[in-house]
Order: sequence, then C-alpha cells, then structure tokens
Amino acid sequence: MSSNDNIVIDDNYDGYRLELFCIPKHYEEDLENILIPSGLITDRIERLARDITQEFNDEGLVALCVLKGGYKFFTDLLDRIKMLNRNTEKSIPLAVDFIRLKSYVDDKQSGKIEVIGGDNLENLKGKNVLIVEDIIDTGRTMMKLLDILKSVKPKTVRVASLLVKRTERSIGYKPDYAGFEIPDLFVVGYALDYNEYFRDLNHICVINEHGKKKYSS
Ligand code: IMP
Repeated sequence: MSSNDNIVIDDNYDGYRLELFCIPKHYEEDLENILIPSGLITDRIERLARDITQEFNDEGLVALCVLKGGYKFFTDLLDRIKMLNRNTEKSIPLAVDFIRLKSYVDDKQSGKIEVIGGDNLENLKGKNVLIVEDIIDTGRTMMKLLDILKSVKPKTVRVASLLVKRTERSIGYKPDYAGFEIPDLFVVGYALDYNEYFRDLNHICVINEHGKKKYSS
C-alpha cells in the first residue's frame, strides 16, 4: 500500500550544530544547521524501500530519476530495493530511466517546466513507473511531470519524494511515498543544490544568508 506517512520536522526544530558532524570546510560559513544527518536519511530510505517493495509485484517497475537533485535518493533507494531483492523471497524486476527538467516561473501563480533531457518517455508505455524526486515544494513541478507522463500511457505511476516542504504555497499535492516533511526553509545537500553548489554535501542542511549571497547567480 502507498503511504503518506513520513517523519515530520517541526517549524521550531533547530537542527544540529555544524560542529557535531563532518562538513566540508568550503561550506562551513554557509550553513545555518544540519536539518537531517545523512545517517538518518539512510535509515529512512531503508524503510521506504521496504514499503515500496511491498506494493509492487513481479511485473516490476521502472524507476524514473528526476535529475539532477534526485540522483542521490535514486541510487540509495534502488540499492536498498536491490538488497531486498537479493535477500527476500519476493523480488521485483527493476529498470531505470532518467529525466531532466528545467523549471522556471513566469509569474507568482504559474510555474512552467520543460523536459530538457533524458531517455525517450515512450519507453514508459504500459509500465509501472516510480518517479523518484528530491523535494516537493509547491508541487507544481510534480503535477506537470505527471501530466507529461500521462500522454505516454504508463500502466501505473507512483511518486517517491525524499522531502516534502510544508508551505502555504503548496497546491496540495502529496507524493505516494515521502521521507520527511520539512519546514518552509531552503535546504541543500544530499544532491539538493543552490545554484549548483552544495550537491557535494552529504547531510541535508539549511543554507544561511552568507551562503545565499556567496553563491547567488
Ligand atoms: P516545486 O515545483 O515548487 O514543487 O519545486 C520543486 C523543485 O524546486 C525541486 O525539484 C527542486 O529542484 C527545487 N526546490 C524547491 N525547494 C528546494 C530546496 O529547499 N532546496 C533545493 N531545491 C529546491
């Protein structure tokens, strides 16, 4: 069964001080705190993999990685599903596919997304697709992607997002599988970026004003 259960991080949660964990020196000045240490991410993904394998059957699934931000979650989630495949009676054939999206906003109300790379989506026709995304913020990107996928007629579509932001800007979209619900803050690390920086940080952290200024485009 799909589940909307996740770990909820409260608005008043301060995270962990940077000194308590290992941070690359080049980012020490640019982060407010560590919101989700990488060990906790790993443990949560282990459980998501178990929930996902319980829903799918031997028809298998095509895991669709939304680049670039989804790549770490995608590889770690698939590694866990493969481990379950090797070690339990039930095993789910896996195929992988990639899509790269460019999202931009025309005005405050309408986000537009464009597919700028990846495999031919026609390959997904008749398949059970699992979209693997890093973060749902307003939900507009995912709604548009689901719309694009509909045109190639997959058999089923499920969405796994590592993070879901709690924000007033949300259009109400909720993924089938979510790792953590987080406050309305800009987070980086674990492949999430700010202008292409911070993908090389393993914990999910809150960027500070210094970091935003330093890496602004
Ligand atoms: P949405 O369309 O508002 O849901 O935004 C989704 C996309 O915005 C994600 O796939 C990310 O690329 C980006 N995004 C939104 N919030 C964050 C954040 O806190 N950190 C990094 N990227 C973010």
